[in-house]
Amino acid sequence: MWQIIGAGAIGCLWAANLKRIGEDVHLIMRRAAQSNALCYQDLQQQITEVAISCSASLKNDYDPILVCVKATQVEQAIVTQRTLISDKQPIILMHNGMGCAEKVAKLLPTNPIICATTANASLLNSHLNIQQTGVGPTYLGAYNDLAIPFKDLILPLNKALNETHWVDNINEKLWLKLLINVAINPLTAIYQVKNGQLLAPEFATLINRIIKESVLISKAEKMPFSEEELLATVTQVISKTAENYSSMNRDIHFKRKTENEYISGYLLAKAAKHAINVPTIAKLHQKIDQYSLYKEGESLSNSIK
Ligand code: PAF
Repeated sequence: MWQIIGAGAIGCLWAANLKRIGEDVHLIMRRAAQSNALCYQDLQQQITEVAISCSASLKNDYDPILVCVKATQVEQAIVTQRTLISDKQPIILMHNGMGCAEKVAKLLPTNPIICATTANASLLNSHLNIQQTGVGPTYLGAYNDLAIPFKDLILPLNKALNETHWVDNINEKLWLKLLINVAINPLTAIYQVKNGQLLAPEFATLINRIIKESVLISKAEKMPFSEEELLATVTQVISKTAENYSSMNRDIHFKRKTENEYISGYLLAKAAKHAINVPTIAKLHQKIDQYSLYKEGESLSNSIK
């Protein structure tokens, strides 16, 4: 059985696709009934409805736990379920941003911890109603040595959503996703635009600056990305997801807590550690941080340029 914490866009995407291939799934969410219909629209616009077992707590203390809540909620989700988690139970963390695995490892020091990043995209239309909006690879890898024997967990995951791979260099995959997110998410959130609108010439200078600063930090952390490669990757992701609103764009739009601390905040902490000056990323971080003060009619995009 797969125990999935978080009934957001990504949690439901995995739940629907694991059910589709015949896996047993239990969804853990705050607003839980015993069983619920999960409505899923795939990329071919085909709609399926599956009955899904749900509750507010884990069902057992041995099956893998796939944590699909936002980075801001991971620690609290683990704290809430902690007494129900056994000391050998594998935990998979799948979210944007970095910095959560360290916190989870402190809470669960004997558990195998796997980090994951996915380029599959999905939109939560309403409670338990999702629509897949993009496909892409998913990478899983061991955060600690205890997780290495759990490599085979990717077999059903890969059957559920193609292009799911186990990698030995998961940190590099997480960093690359982090740098993609820092180039796309704050700008699309501040300017309230779809990802594709970042291809407009007026964003070129800002994106180049973000990429320059990102590469300085990631090089100091021994990551291999060059400015040219990163710019090409970011441009490709923007084009592929042109019609999507980024997750941070939606968070700002709906006045929800953002993953700012786990994206630019994480990078700023690394920049400080290496005494690297990154004024553009600092400014983006500060702007998003101020969003709770954002009032209707007031432009959040003022003064970023
Ligand atoms: O956070 C997101 O929305 C996505 O990770 C990404 C890659 C920016 C695409 O929208």
